[in-house]
Amino acid sequence: MHKIKVNLKERGYDILIGKGIVSGSRTLKDLVAGRRCLVITDSNVSKIYGLSVLRTLKNAGAESEIIPFKAGESSKNLETYGKLLRQACRAGLDRSSLIVALGGGVPGDVAGFVAASYMRGLNFIQIPTTLLAMVDSSVGGKTGIDLPEGKNLVGAFWQPSLVLIDPTVLTTLPKREIRCGLAEVVKYGIIMDEKFFSFLEKNLNGIKRMEQKTYGEIIARCCELKAKVVCADERETTGLRAILNYGHTFGHAVETVTEYGKYAHGEAVSIGMCMAANLAVLNHKFAPEMAMRQFDLLNALGLPTTLDSGIKPAQIYKAMFKDKKVANGKLRLVLPDRIGKVSIVKDAKPEDVMRAIEEVVV
Ligand SMILES: NC(=O)c1ccc[n+]([C@@H]2O[C@H](COP(=O)([O-])OP(=O)(O)OC[C@H]3O[C@@H](n4cnc5c(N)ncnc54)[C@H](O)[C@@H]3O)[C@@H](O)[C@H]2O)c1
Ligand SMILES: [Zn+2]
Repeated sequence: MHKIKVNLKERGYDILIGKGIVSGSRTLKDLVAGRRCLVITDSNVSKIYGLSVLRTLKNAGAESEIIPFKAGESSKNLETYGKLLRQACRAGLDRSSLIVALGGGVPGDVAGFVAASYMRGLNFIQIPTTLLAMVDSSVGGKTGIDLPEGKNLVGAFWQPSLVLIDPTVLTTLPKREIRCGLAEVVKYGIIMDEKFFSFLEKNLNGIKRMEQKTYGEIIARCCELKAKVVCADERETTGLRAILNYGHTFGHAVETVTEYGKYAHGEAVSIGMCMAANLAVLNHKFAPEMAMRQFDLLNALGLPTTLDSGIKPAQIYKAMFKDKKVANGKLRLVLPDRIGKVSIVKDAKPEDVMRAIEEVVV
């Protein structure tokens, strides 16, 4: 069992990782006994894990109800949010009640935002069930929904009271979703931990075979790293949290140009990290051998590292300026100095950026 403490100024919390951790957690009992809980999840996760989570909450002394919404990003909207708030009301939730976010990043973000806003804020518990949610979205307190005008445009910083991660639930997650989570895992190695990057290179077989011990270690390290960044820059004010965006400005542009159809987020981030690495080699100090190690690892994990021809590099370049993180029309790119350390680069030459994109188009 891994226990990670997230030490925030106002209110810290624990992340518990291990087989059976959801049903066997003492901390869960302490939090929920004698209270009402509303479990918010999606239609897929509800079928597979809804019953056991309800049972666990009952054993922990809580009175609970579960509300599933249709699975997928398209449900992360005002309509679902509004419905959930009204259901919270009808379920009789008061300020002592808790919201349980069960599922991937979509239920996590929506349920977190319900928790942040219902009666001006309820405690909530994250039970992430995708690799992406385990290593990324369940830690850090960003909650919210999409608008037709753009993704994640409405939300709040609202930290959970507890995060419970049972890596065994990954056995039912589709392989493509696992690969997408792995792109974010590789990202942590590049931005802040060379030793962890080597661990991934050495444990390829365990990763591919879905070995539980390997995943337990990967998830724990990623949570530690994310917690470190979040504690240093809880509300994205000092700029430190921006390093988590490595590969994302390029990746979001790939998602935009391909109209969110061809590549899943993690796949676009994988391609984006290749573009960022190329640029770092071109205009910065990243050694080509290191860019090669990143390329090889992503490839070995089954992630895309090239873009289909048919997509014009100039379109990607243009789309990069629509990113939320662009300040005053200037790109702020996270580029590696070496594996384990990145810098924010504000003065990349347009011709270098174009070249870095072109190198990925086959
Ligand atoms: N808050 C943050 O800091 C943060 C960070 C990164 C991403 N996000 C958000 O996360 C979302 C993406 O999250 P996601 O990739 O987890 O998507 P998701 O929640 O839609 O889950 C992906 C799919 O996997 C299914 N699923 C989940 N767990 C399963 C399991 N154990 N077994 C079988 N099927 C399972 C879901 O039903 C869904 O169909 C995006 O909306 C993104 O904006 C938020
Ligand atoms: Zn991402």
